[in-house]
Amino acid sequence: MQKRLYILSNRLPLTIEKEGAAYTYRQSSGGLISAVGAYLNKEGKEDFAEKYWVGVPGCTEKVWNSVPDKENGDYKYVPVFVNNKTYDYYYNGFSNSLIWPLFHYFPSYADYRQSYFDAYLEVNRTFAEQMASVLKEDDIVWIHDYHLLPLAGLLRNKFPNLTIGFFLHIPFPSFELFRVIPKRWQREILSGMLGADLIGFHTADYSRHFLNCVEKIFDIQHDGDFILRDNRKIKVSALPIGIDYEMFNNAYNDIEVIKKRAEYLRLKQDKKLIFSVDRLDYTKGIYNRLKGYDQFLKQNPEYVGKVVFALVVVPSRDTIGKYAEKKKDIDEYIGDLNSRYGDIGSQPILYQYGHLSFDELVGLYTACDLALITPLRDGMNLVSKEFIATRKDKHGVLVLSEMAGAAHELNNALLINPNDYYEIADKIKYGLEMKPEEQERRIMAMQKQVEENDVNSWAKQFFYQMKEVKDIQGRLHPK
Ligand code: G6P
Repeated sequence: MQKRLYILSNRLPLTIEKEGAAYTYRQSSGGLISAVGAYLNKEGKEDFAEKYWVGVPGCTEKVWNSVPDKENGDYKYVPVFVNNKTYDYYYNGFSNSLIWPLFHYFPSYADYRQSYFDAYLEVNRTFAEQMASVLKEDDIVWIHDYHLLPLAGLLRNKFPNLTIGFFLHIPFPSFELFRVIPKRWQREILSGMLGADLIGFHTADYSRHFLNCVEKIFDIQHDGDFILRDNRKIKVSALPIGIDYEMFNNAYNDIEVIKKRAEYLRLKQDKKLIFSVDRLDYTKGIYNRLKGYDQFLKQNPEYVGKVVFALVVVPSRDTIGKYAEKKKDIDEYIGDLNSRYGDIGSQPILYQYGHLSFDELVGLYTACDLALITPLRDGMNLVSKEFIATRKDKHGVLVLSEMAGAAHELNNALLINPNDYYEIADKIKYGLEMKPEEQERRIMAMQKQVEENDVNSWAKQFFYQMKEVKDIQGRLHPK
């Protein structure tokens, strides 16, 4: 018999926005939404009796009800309403001013405030209470990401036998970093995560770090991938997330994408085109990327006027000080670089601060000669996988930071250390001059990897392992 599935994440896949006097909505951005959404819209369509996506809509109940036609054929939205101040402390505060910087190895950016932690717990409790009124013990609940670390534990207290999965979309740091969090918060966070039956991470390193923290903080030994806590088996697993390979690969031949590609190819004329796209985030290494590009132009003056870098930065979390500061630094650096190497007729950087449509995104992925992706730390990095998938023509070069989770799988990329501007410069040059045969060989190897491990196989593996844990628990405690 098919079960009901509840996906829980901070953000709903749609964001409500004000347009003039009225409200409208757009698709939310970020890896979590696009990956899980893609699975639910395709292969996951038939796997469950009913599907729900639970999250904060970013507006009041009144506004939510006033926006027409926001239904989705694949799943129902379940909005969780939270008052503005609490949401601010939970989202901008604890989630994005403590966990995000710390888990991405920026401890000096972390802001430790009890009021943030209190709001964080309050929002997680609001989710748990709302879920308690609709859940049945045989439903499947899949909780996503760092905003909801305590939630599995809160639900477990109410539903001892519920199937609960948790997946972390960002890195899990080593114990040496995790331990800087006040002890009582550490324990709440880990206990919360351990409320799940299956806890998934992108890489084996993140899983190992988590197991190590559990061992050190609770003195619980693990047996391979399994932990026994309160007489309940819990599995910890490395399950690297994938993308909707088919959609990105087929997009190469979409009429609208072809039009966009032609537009960008006209724009670049006979120059080489480098492309990158990220949310504005200090973890993404945008500033370092500019330094690497600057170094490349410095070392190779013959390329000035023969190469153009299309840099797209998508607005994100702009009410947080550190994000606004980075924007200023990036804007200034681009102005400076363009003034040093450009003139009225030609600029070495074309900069867009805004959202891209799908057609524009794939148009740029497929028009460029080189994708330059240089995060200082990234849980996975789906942009790199999307770029690879779109290149049906088997051309293009990927320069990728070894600090991205994706670097484990995409080892045919030109890997760089994002703090080494000279290495970035050298790899840009090598990439721009790479022979077509080598491009093809590398792209094909990476396409095979990205196709085989797409988002559907990721989600199916996750559900398979959840069932496996439940079976083991059933054998431990027969009814
Ligand atoms: C990352 C996180 C997601 C988040 C996304 C966008 O990918 O792992 O949970 O949704 O960034 O960030 P935002 O703060 O806009 O939701």
